[in-house]
Amino acid sequence: MGVTPDVTPEVRSAEPPAPAVARLGDPVTTSGAERRGALWLLRHLAVASLVSNVLIVVTGGVVRLTGSGLGCPTWPRCTEESFRPHGAMGIHAGIEFGNRLLTFVLAAVAIATFLAARRVGRTALTRLAFVLGLGVPAQAVIGGVTVLTGLNPWTVAFHLLVSMAMICLAVVLLVRVREPDGPAATAVPTGVAWLVRGLFLVGWTVLYLGTVVTGSGPHAGDADAPRNGLDPRAVTQLHTDAVFLLLGLSVAAVLVLRSVPAPARARTASVVLLGVLLAQGAIGFVQYFTGLPVVLVGLHLLGAALIAAAMTWLLLTTRTRSARTVVGSSA
Ligand code: HEM
Repeated sequence: MGVTPDVTPEVRSAEPPAPAVARLGDPVTTSGAERRGALWLLRHLAVASLVSNVLIVVTGGVVRLTGSGLGCPTWPRCTEESFRPHGAMGIHAGIEFGNRLLTFVLAAVAIATFLAARRVGRTALTRLAFVLGLGVPAQAVIGGVTVLTGLNPWTVAFHLLVSMAMICLAVVLLVRVREPDGPAATAVPTGVAWLVRGLFLVGWTVLYLGTVVTGSGPHAGDADAPRNGLDPRAVTQLHTDAVFLLLGLSVAAVLVLRSVPAPARARTASVVLLGVLLAQGAIGFVQYFTGLPVVLVGLHLLGAALIAAAMTWLLLTTRTRSARTVVGSSA
């Protein structure tokens, strides 16, 4: 990609001349004012991506918790004859079909995000928006496989974890929109950076183990859906052990980030993560000891999505990016 006169200085890069064929990351030629407008739009669309991905985790939870997972018994059609359920199929079909329709909202947001990123003209953002957008059809297919396997608990778990990954990616986009495109450098002492990376890894382990607990529990999504056969008590114990490790690492992150040179946003992110973790832990214990009422399990799902977002944010606040070198500039 070549440097065009209307590219904002901080995002210009010393890259080879423009190729003859347009590529994915190539900017659509726009004026500076248009590009600023596109950046404004992209910021808002990145928020919309994050919100819509969190929302579909919750509505997916509603499908499972109301036992509507096989409300539409096949995929991509709802029944062998039609894409839509018919009135006689009842509330479960309506709930499952409603969740399928939400895919189109996500697709619309993803397409708009990708187009806005192309207008902004920063390759990294375009690629991020593209990968985030690919997640939507991928999830539609994984959701379809989930139905076609009769709600196999491992497939259900994978379906949720891909959504969690999309939430993490949406946070990356949200943060990257506000940063320049230079190389990333650690903004905290190396040991602290590793602490936060470890925390992120343990966070993902907690998310994974949570889905294993769900696969062993009573909320299968349909009365006839199989369970993973593991002992719910034992896997809940394992899930909780990992939660305590995560909690310990989060407390450590809050304390350490206050006592070393670190960006203010990293301190804020660590406190936010700890707050969400404490609330989520409380919901986890209460739901476990009260026989897993669906409202609390739904809230626990929302909490898990917020933790995925918060720990990604914390990870990104521990590094910083400088502006790229401007070609022909002495700056
Ligand atoms: C604080 C961090 C925690 C996170 C991030 C987390 C995350 C998750 C996730 C992602 C799931 C799977 C949801 C699904 O597949 O639909 C789950 C399920 C579950 N979690 Fe946690 N959890 C946390 C804390 C706890 C605690 C402290 C307990 C206490 C025992 C707990 C008990 C459970 C139970 C019983 C389930 C299964 C619910 C069901 O049957 O659907 N969680 N958790």
